[in-house]
Amino acid sequence: MLYVLKIAGLLSGFASTALGHGFVSGIVANGVYTEGWQVSFWYDIVNGVTIPQTPGWYEEELDLGFVPPDEYQDPNIICHKNAVNANVSATVPAGGTVEFQWTTWPHSIGPVLTYVANCGGDCKSVDKKTLEFVKIDESGINFSTQEWASGVLIANNNSWTTTVPKTLAPGHYVFRHEIIACHGATSLDGAQNYPFCLNIDVTGSGTANPTGTLGVNLYKETDPGIYFNPYVTLTNYTIPGPTLWTG
Ligand SMILES: *[C@@H]1O[C@H](CO)[C@@H](O)[C@H](O)[C@H]1NC(C)=O
Ligand SMILES: *[C@@H]1O[C@H](CO)[C@@H](O)[C@H](O)[C@H]1NC(C)=O
Ligand SMILES: *[C@@H]1O[C@H](CO)[C@@H](O)[C@H](O)[C@H]1NC(C)=O
Ligand SMILES: *[C@@H]1O[C@H](CO)[C@@H](O)[C@H](O)[C@H]1NC(C)=O
Repeated sequence: MLYVLKIAGLLSGFASTALGHGFVSGIVANGVYTEGWQVSFWYDIVNGVTIPQTPGWYEEELDLGFVPPDEYQDPNIICHKNAVNANVSATVPAGGTVEFQWTTWPHSIGPVLTYVANCGGDCKSVDKKTLEFVKIDESGINFSTQEWASGVLIANNNSWTTTVPKTLAPGHYVFRHEIIACHGATSLDGAQNYPFCLNIDVTGSGTANPTGTLGVNLYKETDPGIYFNPYVTLTNYTIPGPTLWTG
């Protein structure tokens, strides 16, 4: 058994170096570090090893790959491939911050986005297809430096910090954090989405319940910020997804 495990560990280690993509391995919510879903947990399950319960949703990004634009209307876009609800939640007060820690991230072209969806009850049993996502943080490209949000994320130790709007009503939420890698965006369906979901309870005395968008309605493959040439000096960029809600 130990031998099998070691092989699985080696394989997943190999996959991360060979392909170089990444995932959200943990968060710091209101200053508290919590481990998220690890891609290697899939191998643990196969090997009959008990995995820890984390706020990170189960997914099968075994190749450290992405959801392509021709799957934007498929439920895999919601929380990545074959995602299943996490059973526990982290906590953050409205007005507080959540830092999303990525494993080594290689692609410096593309926006970074964060959404929240109120589970309307327990996030461990909500049907992901009913979740309505509200975009609370978005960053595209700095026109004066031509530096993309993904580049900023890499420079910041592969991490991104989102502030939860102070007016957001308390409740059980799914946070959906995403990088859209656009190095291949000149081709139709050449962009790559890397969405990851975590259950986070929001506390506080906010009263806002903004309207959201179903995961399968967030993007279209022909959106101006999905299908475009990133290899020119950009003077405008339409960040994908619904309008930002700042509270
Ligand atoms: C949550 O619990 C259910 C039922 O035990 C399980 O199928 C699911 O994989 C768990 N989710 C995670 C992320 O471990
Ligand atoms: C960089 O991020 C890793 C987790 O991805 C963390 O363990 C480490 O402490 C961070 N380093 C610094 C200097 O913040
Ligand atoms: C773009 O980068 C410049 C130089 O680092 C910085 O001064 C400016 O604030 C940035 N603009 C935005 C919108 O972040
Ligand atoms: C920039 O603006 C033009 C004119 O409105 C639009 O056609 C184009 O799609 C935009 N480009 C991006 C990358 O958002």
